[in-house]
Amino acid sequence: MSKISKFSTTDIKNAASLLKDGNLVAFPTETVYGLGGDAENKDAVAKIYQVKGRPVDHPLIIHISAAEYMTKWARDFPEYVLGLASAFWPGPMTLILPRTSTAKDFITGGQDSVAIRVPSHVIAQALLKEFENRGGIGIAAPSANRFGAVSPTTANAVSSELGQYLSSNDLILDGGQCIIGIESTIIDCRQALPIILRPGKVTQEMIEELLNIKINLDNSVNKIKAPGLYESHYAPKARIFLTGLPRVGDGYIALSHLPTPEGAVRLASPNNNEEYAQILYMALRSADSKGIEKVVVTPPIGKGVAIAINDRLKKAAFLQ
Ligand code: TXA
Ligand code: MG
Repeated sequence: MSKISKFSTTDIKNAASLLKDGNLVAFPTETVYGLGGDAENKDAVAKIYQVKGRPVDHPLIIHISAAEYMTKWARDFPEYVLGLASAFWPGPMTLILPRTSTAKDFITGGQDSVAIRVPSHVIAQALLKEFENRGGIGIAAPSANRFGAVSPTTANAVSSELGQYLSSNDLILDGGQCIIGIESTIIDCRQALPIILRPGKVTQEMIEELLNIKINLDNSVNKIKAPGLYESHYAPKARIFLTGLPRVGDGYIALSHLPTPEGAVRLASPNNNEEYAQILYMALRSADSKGIEKVVVTPPIGKGVAIAINDRLKKAAFLQ
């Protein structure tokens, strides 16, 4: 595995060729880093599962450079899908749609639906376009972390998570720190009204306003396998507590206006909820690298991205 930090268009072209040849390329998106492989190549997809240590019945998101390629993978979707696509793509949104025969069981975990996203990050876009120039039609990319762990928001986090599992032909593209910092909003679009399966930067209010609808938040009727829907996920080694005060030596994460309790190790002091999302995973990782065993987090309040941050924090803290 090699990691490239300062790269040219030639390097992106090489990365696209590596993908087309069945190798894996980890790349930055505006949400988190993804571990990419050719979505049509069974062996490449099998490698993704192996490197992540992810159970094979958990489906992957297919990344494309533009909404126009969606119909290769998805069919018979409701009209509002086009509204969502033109408002929020490229961007931090994944749509669950009825699949075409191109979306094989090995990518959908045997489900009749497929997950599609158009990322906006310039490196992701360039890589996708080069991949498409070589005849590829989609890059499967889960977050580039081991199953159940915290998603990586820097290339260093990818190499420390996955470096030992990647092979010599695989590549990590270093595009710096991800701007959003938490995973895309996942919207199930297989029925008359959309259902939010995983909250993110594209919020319930944004969707409701765009489509002039009211979204039912009860997704318990959905028996879809989605690791992000597990009650425990996105978890560091340290135990996370969302109430109480840190003791001496414990980690502490909170908005900057909240003071650090005496003796606690301040891991992050974001100034607002956007910054909170951006640095949360890095702060959780830093607890592990500092050997901190317990982290107290004061969650942000309010709507918008605070909903998604609270969702991830609840999962990180579950049953530890
Ligand atoms: O921001 C993101 O979404 C990142 C970047 C790399 O794009 N990707 C990401 O992928 O978070 P992953 O695999 O870590 O999480 C994708 C989620 C999983 O919970 C998966 O089960 C769900 O999407 N998913 C994928 N295909 C699905 C499907 N057909 N039906 C329901 N859920 C699906
Ligand atoms: Mg993930």
